[in-house]
Amino acid sequence: MATITLLGIESSCDETSAALVRDGIVLSNVIYTQDVHAQYGGVVPESASRLHLRHIVPVVEQAFRESGLNINDIDAVAYTQSPGLIGSLLVGAGFAKGLAQVKGIPTLAVNHMQAHVFANLIEHPTIPYPFICLTVSGGHTQLVMVKGPLQTDILGETIDDAAGEAFDKTAKMLGLPYPGGPLIDQYAEMGNAHRFTFAKPQIQGLDFSFSGVKTSILYFLQKEVAFNPKFIEENRADLCASIQHTIVAILLQKLEKAVRQTGVKQIALAGGVSANRGLRFALRELALRKRWHVYIPSPSYCTDNAAMIALTGYYQYLNQNWSDWSVTASARSQ
Ligand code: KG4
Ligand code: ZN
Repeated sequence: MATITLLGIESSCDETSAALVRDGIVLSNVIYTQDVHAQYGGVVPESASRLHLRHIVPVVEQAFRESGLNINDIDAVAYTQSPGLIGSLLVGAGFAKGLAQVKGIPTLAVNHMQAHVFANLIEHPTIPYPFICLTVSGGHTQLVMVKGPLQTDILGETIDDAAGEAFDKTAKMLGLPYPGGPLIDQYAEMGNAHRFTFAKPQIQGLDFSFSGVKTSILYFLQKEVAFNPKFIEENRADLCASIQHTIVAILLQKLEKAVRQTGVKQIALAGGVSANRGLRFALRELALRKRWHVYIPSPSYCTDNAAMIALTGYYQYLNQNWSDWSVTASARSQ
């Protein structure tokens, strides 16, 4: 069988990434993270798209160098089409389409959320179907039933904030810079997760909600700081551990419910928040007790990366699901 080699491009938020994937095997995966947003407490869309413009060519060049391939070796270009920041997505889509047109090869428009799910296949290509994927990122929180390559049904999702937003917004309340999720993770390692308890949402079905937890943490902190201005500083590790414990408990409670309802015991994790050590540890522990099989990607395939875009594009290529030139970036999922 002829080999299929794809260039993947990811630019949906604040990571500019390019990857080369040959027959489902990752040959390179270069990720440039725009640290500039930290000082503003969140991603500034205008700066993000400008930085994608500046970095996309060097990132793609490095991905080719690391793979040992050149531009004539690729059969198609896969790019993140949606969802994400529109200005950022347009940079990747424009670059991918331009390159593909010059080379006379097709493009593959990839859904970023679906790509997070299929990032699991990079290291576990033989994961048995169906499996349930808990996709937890900065913009989304979903429970997805995966029935086969590219075949997904959403079982439940957040009705307000995403899990990553819950981490980042509470981190901001603790005076931590953006993105605060990884920092909460770090401090939590040194803290007592049972020191503080926060109210958990009572949402029916398999949907999630994080806005109530966020508000209850805010009110708690305001009350304590009024009494002791150094409260956060003196209790940072315990606060981080308790907040992380609460978010992880909300996620795993719904996952358990999904398993009960569907009987599917193959579980995968996806999205930036799946890099969280508290979540990884708690899921592994729960799986051991419940006899589930758990698949967790390496951290570099959890956060935004082009390898997952190229891999998802590879399955689209096998289905001859190429995109025509009129397909363009969209902020909302398509
Ligand atoms: O998937 P991702 O890289 O980008 C989106 O598509 O949103 O996810 C980014 C999110 C951010 O909210 C970030 O704080 C969170 O993932 N995150 C973490 C950790 N690493 C990244 N949250 C908690 N613990 C971590 N170790
Ligand atoms: Zn993402």
